[in-house]
Amino acid sequence: MKKAKVSVRGLVKRFGTTTAADNIDLDIEDGEFLTLLGSSGCGKTTLMRIIAGFETADAGTVTIDGRDVTHLPPRQRRLGMVFQQYSLFPHMTVGENIGYGLRAQRAPEPDIEKRVTEMLALVQLPDLRDRKPGQLSGGQQQRVALARALATRPSVLMLDEPLGALDLKLRRQLQAELKRIHRETGTTFLFVTHDQEEALYLSDRVAVMRGGKIEQLASPQDIYLQPVNEFVADFVGDVAFIDGIHDPGLRVVILPQGSAIPARLALPAGPVRLAVRPENVKIASPGADTVPGVVIQVAHQTGTTIYNVRLASGQEVKVRSLGLAGGVDSPGQAVHLSFADCHLAFGT
Ligand SMILES: Nc1ncnc2c1ncn2[C@@H]1O[C@H](COP(=O)(O)OP(=O)(O)O)[C@@H](O)[C@H]1O
Ligand SMILES: [Mg+2]
Repeated sequence: MKKAKVSVRGLVKRFGTTTAADNIDLDIEDGEFLTLLGSSGCGKTTLMRIIAGFETADAGTVTIDGRDVTHLPPRQRRLGMVFQQYSLFPHMTVGENIGYGLRAQRAPEPDIEKRVTEMLALVQLPDLRDRKPGQLSGGQQQRVALARALATRPSVLMLDEPLGALDLKLRRQLQAELKRIHRETGTTFLFVTHDQEEALYLSDRVAVMRGGKIEQLASPQDIYLQPVNEFVADFVGDVAFIDGIHDPGLRVVILPQGSAIPARLALPAGPVRLAVRPENVKIASPGADTVPGVVIQVAHQTGTTIYNVRLASGQEVKVRSLGLAGGVDSPGQAVHLSFADCHLAFGT
């Protein structure tokens, strides 16, 4: 593991009876893009605000660049912040907004001008230096907020749902921009979102949070392919849970009503719960390894078709197929499903 840029140890924060941070340990590596992912109220903002120094923890420590900053005010922590609401100074021009932090640090004026020009190029707004925030679109304001936060070369850039107020297309565009800016600046990014797709797309590592705790901290691939529990499997990506009985002799998972899914994973004998991703089920010709079902819904996404299929056991799975699978296009059709060997299993 690379050197930790930020280390959080034993962090606890309570608001009345709510535990917003429940004994959190976290290391953020130098230069990485780490995302806190979880639904509203799980403690993402609280954790970020404690690291930034805007909130005081009940217990625990925060170390940045090897220095214990637990009791230091925000301005002594060398952090940059970008929030969902644009929070630019409305009476200042774009250039003045971007130069604000450097001016507050009493940097020489020519250095400030040079840095502002660099930052405008970085966020691809070279011509808007003299505009006021009110004359910018939401996406442009967020680019300026990003430029302002990066201008002082912060040790860590913290972004709390920065794209939350933008429409989908603009959000996608700015996600790509954020990834490029992260790569080009080499700055450590701590990002917060409740959008799992956004988290997987952007991050080097994702911390999936629930109830003030980190459930899993891993690469996007591992979070998706090797979730540690049902909560993470369900939160990140589409999944259907299928309960059955594993028979190690026959190497199958027997479903209620008698059909069986081949068990290619090392499973415990007895009751198991399979977590099945839509891309790991196919509509197939009937065979020894297939499970019969009935299509109950057909929906189209860009380039793919999603089938909801009810198995004879009554359990439902989703099937993702490129285009239409073998002409299956309407509810009520009887189909056979084959299951890939990469589905996940949890004890019950
Ligand atoms: N200042 C506060 N006073 C009381 N409760 C708070 C305060 N800030 C956060 N909370 C509570 O702490 C929990 C975590 O909140 P927050 O960190 O904002 O979650 P998230 O950013 O993941 O949506 C929530 O239950 C929230 O209501
Ligand atoms: Mg929040």
